[in-house]
Amino acid sequence: MSSDIVAAKDIPTISQLYRSKELRAIANPVVSTPNQKLNDKVCTIQEDITILEVDVIVNAANRSLLGGGGVDGAIHRAAGPKLLKECRTLDGCPTGGAKITDAYDLPSKKIAHAVGPIFDSQAKSEPRLRSCYRKALELAVEHNLKSIAFPAISTGVYGYPSLAAARAATDEVQQFLSEPEGDSLDKVIFCNFLDKDVEAYARHIPSFFPPTKEDLGSEDSSETA
Ligand code: APR
Repeated sequence: MSSDIVAAKDIPTISQLYRSKELRAIANPVVSTPNQKLNDKVCTIQEDITILEVDVIVNAANRSLLGGGGVDGAIHRAAGPKLLKECRTLDGCPTGGAKITDAYDLPSKKIAHAVGPIFDSQAKSEPRLRSCYRKALELAVEHNLKSIAFPAISTGVYGYPSLAAARAATDEVQQFLSEPEGDSLDKVIFCNFLDKDVEAYARHIPSFFPPTKEDLGSEDSSETA
């Protein structure tokens, strides 16, 4: 992990990670048609989200929006006390929802505070987790923010198993980016912190964002552009 700021342009895309062999294709991906546009847009990095110089970072908050531990604590510490002051005006947020604030001393412009589910069962928790990703993406589009970075929401204190969370997150992001609204986003970054989440995304990214022939270094790229 580096200690200073990471510029959006320096965060590797899925396409670049296939080319550098840091990501590998899997047999029988859920998404059967590789999409170069998405593979050039979606990124993943193992890093402290508070140092990413992107338009908006997503916080894994609780319903009070008044701070906590984990990434919530890291973001509030790095953003400074003005963040809590603004959060106090928001009157909380329901599970599955997201609200936007300024980012103050952070290198990003905004913070989308998403409230993930405390893991109960996949049937109950997955729709709420998916809603966090979708609501945060909708806020980015609404505020004309072009680059957004997500932590692995709910996989810490809230106990969501990393593999199941990564599958839901990559699926929901792939669906959103395949809809017209997704066209206005330039970069969607999965910013993982612990190895367990890095490994979970390395398993599911190739399933929802399979490599094109170009990503694999062969000449013709006849996939959808
Ligand atoms: N940058 C990126 N990711 C981070 C960072 C960081 N600086 N610090 C922690 N993470 C990761 C964790 O490793 C985990 O994968 O964020 C993910 C979410 O974990 P938590 O922060 O514990 O959040 P969550 O599981 O959603 O629980 C939310 O915890 O901190 C409290 O106030 C928060 O009550 C809320 C609850």
